[in-house]
Amino acid sequence: MQVLGIETSCDETGIAIYDSEKGLLAHNLYSQIDLHKEYGGVVPELASRDHVRRLLPLIKKTVSEANTKLKSLDAIAYTAGPGLMGALLVGTAMGRSLAYSLSIPAIAVHHMEAHLLAPMLEDDVPEYPFLALLVSGGHTQLVHVSKPGDYNILGESVDDAAGEAFDKTAKLLGLPYPGGSAISVLADQGDSQRFQFPRPMTDRPGLDFSFSGLKTFALNTVNSEPSDEQTHADIARAFVDAVVDTFIIKCRRAIKDTGLKELVVAGGVSANKQLRHGLHDLMNEVNGKVYFPRAEFCTDNGAMIAYAGYLRLKTGQTESLNFQAKPRWPLDEMGKA
Ligand code: KG4
Ligand code: ZN
Repeated sequence: MQVLGIETSCDETGIAIYDSEKGLLAHNLYSQIDLHKEYGGVVPELASRDHVRRLLPLIKKTVSEANTKLKSLDAIAYTAGPGLMGALLVGTAMGRSLAYSLSIPAIAVHHMEAHLLAPMLEDDVPEYPFLALLVSGGHTQLVHVSKPGDYNILGESVDDAAGEAFDKTAKLLGLPYPGGSAISVLADQGDSQRFQFPRPMTDRPGLDFSFSGLKTFALNTVNSEPSDEQTHADIARAFVDAVVDTFIIKCRRAIKDTGLKELVVAGGVSANKQLRHGLHDLMNEVNGKVYFPRAEFCTDNGAMIAYAGYLRLKTGQTESLNFQAKPRWPLDEMGKA
């Protein structure tokens, strides 16, 4: 079986083809970062227009690199939500029209489920059930994964997502959008002893997160300290240490609560070097194991959509023609219409 995946939920156009026998045949990504950089964040209207521009050439290129033909495809999977409505509609319209023209099924994929499944594209994969920490620009969730499609949210952010906190703090430090990876590099030059940031919501029971206070803490520190390079690096370090520590504390708690010893970490922030080290050490300490996607599949990509679509196709779950794109779509309500 061959499934073409289309990702257009935000500022990346991703296309990939997954083959049930051979694995990933080809994948391509067009990032709109340069387009949005001057505005300091994603401009939804510009994002939609650019997806329209990029989609067809990228599909053509991917089909050719995969050494296959459109008529050899068995299904088209597209991100149906959550994400920016206009951007989602572009991928939805393309995915469903293509499927209709080829008389094959269209499969609506949940973007966060696709992130969660991205580590399955690697050689070494976890066994169900496992814990998943999803950390992206729009979501921060700890999930109990019983089997594909069966997700129970154990905790989530009550305000900003982790990626959002990274991007906002990076902006305060004068780093270009999106600042997640830049802040991580800057933090490497920082002194971990100079500033102490709080570990939000770790002093009370439960597995929810809150990151907006960290951003405010960073703002107050920036305003009350000299604005030299070392100070900015020290603030970046204190921020990253606080985020990583908070995740370690909550993951340790989730492991204790559920007895599960395998942890998947996925979504854009899972590319973060310090977070990867911290969670790796934690899982060693508890005799468990952590699984990450390869770096390029941490952030948005078409491969995870093609793979999630393939799993749906295998179990016969495809969409009727009146399926709607869903800008808001809770992961644990995925199966419901
Ligand atoms: O998963 P993703 O590509 O898009 C969403 O689904 O939201 O995540 C994007 C987020 C951005 O906030 C970006 O700054 C953050 O992931 N990010 C990072 C790193 N690479 C990307 N955050 C921290 N460290 C990184 N290395
Ligand atoms: Zn994403």
